[in-house]
Amino acid sequence: MAYGLLQGKRGIISGALNDSSIAWKIAQRAKEEGATFTLTNAPIAMRMGEIKKLAEECNAEIIPADATSNEDLEKLFTQSQEILGGKVDFVLHSIGMSPNIRKGRAYTDLNYEWFKQTLDISALSFHRMMQTAYKLDAINEWGSVVGLTYMAAQRTFPFYTDMAEAKAMLESIARSFGYHYGKYRKVRVNTVSQSPTQTTAGSGIGGFDKFFGYADAIAPLGNATADQCADYCITLFSDYTRMVTMQNLFHDGGFSMTGVSAEIMDLVNVK
Ligand code: NAI
Repeated sequence: MAYGLLQGKRGIISGALNDSSIAWKIAQRAKEEGATFTLTNAPIAMRMGEIKKLAEECNAEIIPADATSNEDLEKLFTQSQEILGGKVDFVLHSIGMSPNIRKGRAYTDLNYEWFKQTLDISALSFHRMMQTAYKLDAINEWGSVVGLTYMAAQRTFPFYTDMAEAKAMLESIARSFGYHYGKYRKVRVNTVSQSPTQTTAGSGIGGFDKFFGYADAIAPLGNATADQCADYCITLFSDYTRMVTMQNLFHDGGFSMTGVSAEIMDLVNVK
């Protein structure tokens, strides 16, 4: 059901790779709620072509941009304003990639060049996006910026390797830039810490399926789906959350606050 929560709002949505991407669901919900927006992804993801289907469905233009390139991001914000007819009201950062995870490197055997790429793509890009928008003054007053994160920023999940550091940095950037953008244009900046979700990036993590089941058995509400994450992000883009900023918001069915569940206790046979 749609409520018109984003009626008249303009935005930029990154990270929709295929129909399991969290950003894909967010784009569909944003459209239903009345927003107009541009879609962006790395040029290499563009060649896979699936994003065109989403663009047609949402009547949105696609602007290719590598999130590690200042030039691409300037183009993204400039062209988005031209296409949409003004400054934007919301920005979604839904970008993550670790070459170390892709190539199966253990945390105790990281390749540092790849580690730097992980941080550049998955964390610094959040700062880069906001710094670009700030300098171009491309976000309207009371606008909203959301980045997607994972709880490995606070607690250790061994298989998450260097992405844990990237997420800790991403969340820190939300706090720091949230201060500056709040002062400058009353723009709020938050991260949403989502449950494990079956997507291309999610399933690339070692042992993902088992961990997905574990998290689902711990959380009293079970794992939050990508569709539910989309609903939550829509509220953060809407005018109903204007005073929420610099927060890391858990969207995980209660996982982060649960020590252990009865289901997990039943699996442990201690006399
Ligand atoms: P996904 O694989 O569909 O999305 C990741 C996106 O990052 C892709 O669209 C990819 O093309 C894009 N990307 C990679 N390098 C890029 C670059 N240099 N420039 C621009 N875009 C680039 O997977 P998912 O799960 O939807 O990921 C979205 C976000 O959600 C990520 O930040 C991820 O860490 C986060 N997240 C995912 C969870 C999961 O279990 N799937 C749980 C919690 C957070």
